[in-house]
Amino acid sequence: MSVCVFGSLNLDIVIRVEEIPRPGETIFGNSVTHHTGGKGANQAIAAARLGATTRMFGKVGSDEAGRRLLSALKSDGVDCTGIAIDNLSPSGKAYILVSQRGENVIVVSSGANSHATADSNFIGDVFLCQFESPRAALNTFLKSSASRNSTRLLNAAPAIPAWRDLLAHCDVLIVNQHELAAYTDLNSKTPDNTELLAKAAAHLLCGDCKAVIVTLGEQGALLVEPDSIRLAPARKTHVVDTTGAGDCFCGALAAGIDRGLSLFEALSDATLAASLSVERHGAAASMPTALELKQLYASLN
Ligand code: ATP
Ligand code: RIB
Repeated sequence: MSVCVFGSLNLDIVIRVEEIPRPGETIFGNSVTHHTGGKGANQAIAAARLGATTRMFGKVGSDEAGRRLLSALKSDGVDCTGIAIDNLSPSGKAYILVSQRGENVIVVSSGANSHATADSNFIGDVFLCQFESPRAALNTFLKSSASRNSTRLLNAAPAIPAWRDLLAHCDVLIVNQHELAAYTDLNSKTPDNTELLAKAAAHLLCGDCKAVIVTLGEQGALLVEPDSIRLAPARKTHVVDTTGAGDCFCGALAAGIDRGLSLFEALSDATLAASLSVERHGAAASMPTALELKQLYASLN
């Protein structure tokens, strides 16, 4: 069994600040730190740390950042033979501000990620991609990985409403509340209301998509299927940095499905794994290991 991730790799350039500044405001922050990131790389590392044999496809530049990103993935056991090197574009970068409350704002400069291409030779049991890669490549990845014996997970993040048609070419769609609002007529200012969220999510159950997962931050995650709605509540914890929480969730979900868990069991596992990731700084760096998740389960029983 294995997980195949197609996605972005970014060098995250992080500054911690007291509060996220408003437009027009200038503030002082702490020193700059560099971390492994990119939704694809974060999700691949999460799946690998949780025990899945993981292969990643994407593109980095022929530069120090690219070498650093590849080395980080390899040291977590991710097979990087599908990651191409772009001699013309720099590696992707993400400029991130993290507030004292753990909130973040992110600006991505895609660089080499925007030149990633996909052939149709993807092998795996669980396929996972996000929206930080070119549309044409995602279209090929999703369509060529369709088979009765595999599961395609699409994390439609960041939200790109013009790509909504791709949402029908996965088995399980994962979005956060803001992304759900961007793809439906849900008002993103609507206070959390499970019934409204589930109703909006149900509109995305079309084409091949048999389940929609809405991640709800500190409230956990909602699984919406044609005949049921189930909530996995989040574990209460002290938040340090939520960057990559959604990625931890997606990688853990892929690893759980790959291990043969049911979708709701894998979602519950992912909710718990993501609660560990918010306790630590960084994106990829915050992903928990299988042992840490096992210890957490033991401490809860
Ligand atoms: P991000 O963009 O910050 O990576 P996201 O917006 O994609 O995250 P969220 O819904 O905020 O996704 O979080 C994903 C998952 O992480 C949640 O479903 C939950 O399991 C976990 N999580 C996030 N925030 C918290 C929190 N404050 N306490 C516990 N778990 C959390
Ligand atoms: O989801 C978090 C990730 O989004 C960061 O690591 C950053 O690189 C951006 O891609």
